[in-house]
Amino acid sequence: MTVPRYIALIPAAGVGERMGTSMPKQYALLAGKPMLQHVMETFAHSTLLSHTYVVVSPNDAYISDLPVLAGTTILKCGGATRQASVTNGLLAISQDTEEDDWILVHDAARPGLTHDLLEKLIAFVKDDAVGGLLALPVVDTIKRSDGHGRAEMTVERSALWSAQTPQMFRHAQLLQALQQVQQATDEASAIEAMGHRPKLVEGSARNFKVTLPQDLLLAELYLKDFQGMS
Ligand code: CTP
Ligand code: MG
Repeated sequence: MTVPRYIALIPAAGVGERMGTSMPKQYALLAGKPMLQHVMETFAHSTLLSHTYVVVSPNDAYISDLPVLAGTTILKCGGATRQASVTNGLLAISQDTEEDDWILVHDAARPGLTHDLLEKLIAFVKDDAVGGLLALPVVDTIKRSDGHGRAEMTVERSALWSAQTPQMFRHAQLLQALQQVQQATDEASAIEAMGHRPKLVEGSARNFKVTLPQDLLLAELYLKDFQGMS
């Protein structure tokens, strides 16, 4: 029996529609480097990861400008949805992957991931039967809208978490779940739909998903703060 490895898969084939720029947001410059480069370097510099795969769109015009990193492979097999991009990536690496290898799927749009968070996720999930994800307990009071701009009710918050990435599942189980479940917005939702309960591991605010134009400034502040501390 071989020991399961940890392999990163970074979906980076989105167009960043909500960012509203012509260049996909994963290539936006943050603290002097493209967002995707920050993410790729975090994984490439981790001693825990065996390999990193980055899934980009087949017609990506920017990836070739990024530095080539050791232990990192670019796969030009992105699909129309995040689910399709991750599924295509998992299929593309099947030959080089064991069924039980752990796959850590991480959004290219979360440049705030740190080695500490990565190590924490792996430490909490590596002996788990299912897998797990970084997530944050919800702190705000949550309202359910009536659909007409009015609060209909206040939702009990204590059981609510907002999902982050990486999301860590075994290759065969994740591929099967993503191929069977329709419209899974993250890996965990596909695994949940198969009847499993992924482990929630507390992440960090700095690992937020860069989505809107105003998010770029905050992402840059976190990255500069981190560089300043290291
Ligand atoms: N992603 C992907 N393939 C897609 C869509 C998204 O690989 N067809 C990736 C994005 O590149 C990003 C991650 O999935 O790293 C999270 O998606 P999101 O933040 O929604 O990025 P976009 O889909 O690019 O942004 P938007 O939804 O605003 O268009
Ligand atoms: Mg999207």
